[in-house]
Amino acid sequence: MTTVSEIFQTMAYGPAPESDKQAREWLAKHGGEGGVGAGGEFGLFVGGSWVKPASGEWFDVINPATTQRIARVPQAGKADVDAAVAAARAAFPGWSGLPGHARARYLYALAREVQRHARLLAVLESMDNGKSIRETRDLDIPLVARHFYHHAGWAQLQESEFAGATPVGVVGQIIPWNFPLLMVAWKVAPALAAGNTVVLKPAEFTPLTALAFAEIVAEAGLPPGVLNVITGDGRTGALLVDQADVDKIAFTGSTEVGRVIRKATAGSGKKLSLELGGKSPFIVFDDADLDSVVEGVVDAIWFNQGQVCCAGSRLLVHEGVAERLVAKLRARMEKLRVGPPLDKAIDMGAIVAPVQLERIRGLVSKGVEEGATMWQPSWACPTEGYFYPPTLFTDVSPAATIAQVEIFGPVLVAMSFRTPKEAVELANNTPYGLAASVWTENINLALDVAPKIKAGVVWINCTNVFDAASGFGGYRESGFGREGGREGMWEYLKLQWDEGRGTGDGSKRSVAKGASRRTRPSSPVPLPPIDRTYKMFIGGKQARPDAPYPRAIVAPDGRRLAEVGEGNRKDVRNAVEAARAAEGWAHTTGHTRGQILYYIAENLATRTDEFAARIDAMTGCGPERARAEVDAAVSRLFTYASWADKYDGQVHPTTIRGVTLAMNEPIGVVGIAAPEDLPLLGFVSLVAPAVAVGNTVVAIPSEIHPLAATELYSVLETSDVPAGVMNIVTGSKDELSKVLADHLDVDAMWYFGNQVAAAEVERASAGNMKRTWAEWHARDWLDPHQGEGREFLREATQVKNIWIPYGE
Ligand code: NAI
Repeated sequence: MTTVSEIFQTMAYGPAPESDKQAREWLAKHGGEGGVGAGGEFGLFVGGSWVKPASGEWFDVINPATTQRIARVPQAGKADVDAAVAAARAAFPGWSGLPGHARARYLYALAREVQRHARLLAVLESMDNGKSIRETRDLDIPLVARHFYHHAGWAQLQESEFAGATPVGVVGQIIPWNFPLLMVAWKVAPALAAGNTVVLKPAEFTPLTALAFAEIVAEAGLPPGVLNVITGDGRTGALLVDQADVDKIAFTGSTEVGRVIRKATAGSGKKLSLELGGKSPFIVFDDADLDSVVEGVVDAIWFNQGQVCCAGSRLLVHEGVAERLVAKLRARMEKLRVGPPLDKAIDMGAIVAPVQLERIRGLVSKGVEEGATMWQPSWACPTEGYFYPPTLFTDVSPAATIAQVEIFGPVLVAMSFRTPKEAVELANNTPYGLAASVWTENINLALDVAPKIKAGVVWINCTNVFDAASGFGGYRESGFGREGGREGMWEYLKLQWDEGRGTGDGSKRSVAKGASRRTRPSSPVPLPPIDRTYKMFIGGKQARPDAPYPRAIVAPDGRRLAEVGEGNRKDVRNAVEAARAAEGWAHTTGHTRGQILYYIAENLATRTDEFAARIDAMTGCGPERARAEVDAAVSRLFTYASWADKYDGQVHPTTIRGVTLAMNEPIGVVGIAAPEDLPLLGFVSLVAPAVAVGNTVVAIPSEIHPLAATELYSVLETSDVPAGVMNIVTGSKDELSKVLADHLDVDAMWYFGNQVAAAEVERASAGNMKRTWAEWHARDWLDPHQGEGREFLREATQVKNIWIPYGE
């Protein structure tokens, strides 16, 4: 009888194509494929609209998997480059003058728009570049959104985290074809976050997703001229580099062109960052888990057809396991599938263009000529389109051309070593230094080797892992500058004392009014109804209070506004139980926690008028101050959404030979008693930092003005906050605080109120030696120096030191 495993061995894959209908429609709408544009062509995106190129020249965009033309785009000439730079210059004062929070909102909107258009972008990218839909859908596009989210955070934090620094000015960005939209994100997100304006030139082979992104920028409502996209080949790139009114060039591409740009910009005062090629080592020690290594190699060199600057293109393997690993690799290669990129079941798509295919073929022939042994799987690639099979070279000498030159294709060259010292020597034996990966089960060995490799990124037992929070960039001929993380932001900033450098005008930070209030409707809404009775918010639900007698909340003029639950010991107990049950929150990523805080902010912002009216009715503070409070609460939520993936630890220089990793960890369940004045902002200012770093919370809102917090119930319910992460109990603040401080399952207690109750909280906390933060002096919660920042994050975390010695 045939077994299931036999069926799996023999079963042929059927095609599983992703539909290209939407992308084709988009292209047709924009002039591709006999569309309606002027002569079937795209325009340039300059000053917020599509313009015809003054050059009058266009060129074809080809789908490398079908060799069919899918669009025509302009070849921008000097007048076009000048116009784009002028548009960016004109937009600079307004954009750089916006408060960081306003730019954060725009970048956040871009992230959301990218997610909304994810399918179109993934298919378009695949059609334009030839890479598999699996990669564009699961890696490129999600990472694009991630970059905009992360950098929305840096925009929000810019004034505090990069105090004394200003944007550089107008930035020219030139990107390659291997990750077309991802490179847009790596370049554009930090530049815009920091307050620069941009002229972007995508690669000539792959301009389409950059153009789609320009449309997204317009949809998201960014001011005209903040981002301009001009298409063209290297000539357009060179014009942009030479343009006198550009303050910085950011380039990713070949080392050759990087060198040309370094020379061209020398002495011009232009700031420069270069992310260039690589020939990255993939080092396998004899104790590595070889099956994981095989999958690692697939990701290192056959991912994106090997057209990856940090591809693990040199396999350096301990001679004791070399033969076994090569046998396993060949077996795996035999099972890889090369085919139409839109087929969801293929592993490798097409090579970007004939010129690249020729380059790969040429270098492979050279490898054979120089005496290495070449191996390819037995199956054949599709004949239509530019395909190349996965290829493995063995018996390669370290000085061979294929061991030294970046092939930028699915070609792996294997060499062996005997000792870790020899592995490091081989690893460093190229002019490059972009990335490396090290495979061993021995952490001491891994951490001994990692610092010795000349590379900007070292991956231990993994490869090709990227994230917006971590800088990426090279050593040596792989370039300089970093993209991502705090270090990446500095590439787009200059210190204020450095104003004279370049031609940027970062000093004129005229605040453009109203930009941070885009989501607010302009007409006032009537006061909300006054006859509501609010429950508690426990375990993600509105929970009936234990006591049957509600507490009346009255306006300053004595009017009854609403009723809230009178919380007691039992309500607190339930809330603590819910908070404890939700502690999985601590293990979610900072990215996830940030997303949820952003979402709360977004939902709160859309109800600004309603919240402001409620606060005014409760406190009598006046409509303007009430509105300012809601705005500040939205901004504060943005602040902690930003911090969620940025409050990173440190590596301490201790006395061991090794690293001591200082990790910020959440404390656990935090009880919070919010201050009385500024009832929404005070509440948000304490709850947001606590949950941003992974704590769960039981919060007691302002006792006399609790309605801003109870109104939040419905905001929390619609903002994906997991049940139990934020619990709210209303009632007598001091009594409930004492109950929380006594509770043995509460790990920290924050109290903002009067001195007597604060002392009571501190005394009661000794029960389980919980951490307390008790204050009775007034803070101005509207002042960011007093109301937000690292102080709050420090209170919300505890540091764990992890020591990792190096060496064998
Ligand atoms: P390239 O470096 O020529 O192109 C990258 C970008 O620079 C494109 O947008 C191009 O139009 C622009 N450019 C070209 N000449 C320019 C100039 N003189 N001034 C300003 N901009 C200019 O890379 P290409 O020709 O597409 O690929 C050639 C080789 O470069 C590949 O085989 C690969 O080895 C390497 N490469 C490395 C990349 C990386 O990420 N490190 C990316 C792309 C290519």
